[in-house]
Order: sequence, then C-alpha cells, then structure tokens
Amino acid sequence: FFSFQTLKVECRSTSVQRLCSPPCRIDSYGFERRHDFDSYKEMMNEYVAVLDRRSTRWSKLLRDKPNVEKNLTVKRYVRKGVPNEHRARIWMAASGAQAQMDSKPGYYQSLLAVEHDARLKETIHTDMHRTFPDNILFKSRTEEGLQKDLFNVLLAYGHHNPAVGYCQGMNFIAGYLIIITKDEEKSFWLMDALLGRILPDYYSPAMLGLKVDQEVLGELVKTKAPAVGQLMAQYPGIWTLVVSRWFICLYIDILPIETVLRIWDCLFYEGSKVLFRVALTLVLHHRTEILKARSLPDVCECFKQITCGSFTLDCHTFMQKIFTEPGSLSMTTVQKLREKCRKQILEEESQQP
Ligand SMILES: *[C@@H]1O[C@H](CO)[C@@H](O)[C@H](O)[C@H]1NC(C)=O
Repeated sequence: FFSFQTLKVECRSTSVQRLCSPPCRIDSYGFERRHDFDSYKEMMNEYVAVLDRRSTRWSKLLRDKPNVEKNLTVKRYVRKGVPNEHRARIWMAASGAQAQMDSKPGYYQSLLAVEHDARLKETIHTDMHRTFPDNILFKSRTEEGLQKDLFNVLLAYGHHNPAVGYCQGMNFIAGYLIIITKDEEKSFWLMDALLGRILPDYYSPAMLGLKVDQEVLGELVKTKAPAVGQLMAQYPGIWTLVVSRWFICLYIDILPIETVLRIWDCLFYEGSKVLFRVALTLVLHHRTEILKARSLPDVCECFKQITCGSFTLDCHTFMQKIFTEPGSLSMTTVQKLREKCRKQILEEESQQP
C-alpha cells in the first residue's frame, strides 16, 4: 500500500491514515517527521516524477518474467532505484533469498514452532519498544501493528543462527525489511542473506567484521582524501566512534529513509562494497568542513552533520554521486584491505593482556 505512483506524501494509504490523527506529518513508511517534514515533502514532490518514470521502465522490464535474472540491465536499473512495488521482489531475487526460501519450505514456521530460548526471547522483548518509537506502525501492539511480525522475525533468526542470536541493530534492519516486504518469512530470508552472506561478520559477538570494515574505510580515506586521513590519524580509534553506527545499522537513522532504501537496493544486488561508497562520498564531499575540525569532539560533531541536509535527502542525486565521487573501488581492493586490517586487529588483540 505504499505505492509510489499515487504517493504525494500525504497520508494517502488507508492503514496509515487510520492510525494517525491530523495534522499528519507522517511519511509513507509510517514514520513521524516532526522536524524535516517540509523539506522531505519538497524533495518527494520532485522525486515522484523520477519514481513514475522508473516504475514504468521496471514494469516493462519485468513483464512476463517470472524469474529476475542478474544482468547488466538489471544492475543499471537497480542503481537508478527500485520502485517500492518491485522492491521486495528484486531484493529477494538479487540476494538469493528467494532461492533459499524456495528450497526450504516451512523452515521459517518450524523455527517459530520450536521451544523458544527464554533468554533470547527476553533480550528481543526488551528492544521492542526501542524499535522505531517514532513509527506509527510499530507503536501499537495491536493486530495491525508490526511489532508481532518484528518479534517473530528476530526470534526465528536467533534460533536459525544461535552464534549470533540477537544483537542490537538487528531490530532496525528487520523493521525496515518488514516495512518493505510486509511479510515475515521474506524478511527472515532477507535478514539471512544480509547477515549470512552479504555482510562480513558485523553481528557476531566479537564484531570482528565491523571492526575490520571501520579500519578499511580509514585506509580508503587515506588514499582518496589524504588530508582527511592525516587528520583522523591524530585520533586513534576514531573510526569506531564516528562510523560504527553507519555500518551496524546499514545507515538506518543515519540517512533519510528514501536514501537508505536506495542504498539497500544496491546492497542486495552488488554487496557490501556499496557501504564504503556511501561513507567515502560523505567524507569526500565534506572534506573542507572535516578539515576545519580542531579536536576529537569537533570531528565527531562534524561526522554527524555531514549525514544531514539536502545532500543526503536528495536520494537520486546522492546515489549518482556515490558511483562517481569516490572513483573506482574494486572488490579486490576491498578484499585485500579487509585481509590486511583483520590481521592487524587480531595481532593487536592478541598483544593485549
Ligand atoms: C536482464 O534481465 C531482465 C529481467 O529478468 C530481462 O527482462 C532482460 O531481458 C535481461 N536483459 C538482458 C540483456 O539479458
């Protein structure tokens, strides 16, 4: 019901309308936007034309195609944005989640049917009210709310992957997946694709993959923006402070939702490399501001500021920028840096008493 073809950024959709009382400053995903509704609305009123155009193109591309293949045309289309009505299908196909789901019918339900790990249940439960308190779809525990779906998906995932269980951040990711797919089982399989295949181990208790990727970003900045690299080198451990949330939440609550979804389109299709493209673009585009920072708190504040404003809100232009501004970035480069940084981190950790 979040069809963009009819979207004019009002409470058009019946479900949303029923739950919110006027004045309605709620976006089409159910989020209340008290502070930036006007700029969001302005952006959307222009973006709607792009979405309409993309929507027509996608419908033509997918007509009479029961299976979406991965090819250069689809890749190009994905970079230009997947309209909401096709999003779940494209994410499922591109990430391999559909194939997994088809090969294990009934698996998701079986995870919910087993006796539940009480501690896991409790941990997930504690985070329920912390998940999108600003979203009307997650606020209530009523039937039409999405809290139950969210709880189920996280519980099933915890049983599916006991090594990870549940970590903070996963609630936001599952929440977005549910908003888009409106389907528990699909959300579960997309979660499995993300955490099991697309991302390195961000969510294991040691979070090694996350620590590695923060350092990888640091290395990339050193080559692509040496002056910023030098500034950051004065503050050891700073990358963890400024970007861990970017990676762990896959930009949820960091960038505007429309932008996050566009990033995820590419994440599901092309893999985790796109997370670096986004971070690099933010840094490169704002290097002048960053270089003015004179202290650690300055830098931290600056890294908050650069995620806000029209540059990131205008998702279509932003997504063009991420593929041009950082220049070339091959998976080989990323893999090599990951290996190098992983080794360093493990060495440092083994030297600590
Ligand atoms: C790429 O895949 C799409 C979707 O399956 C299909 O419509 C299109 O014809 C394919 N293009 C090429 C060049 O194979």
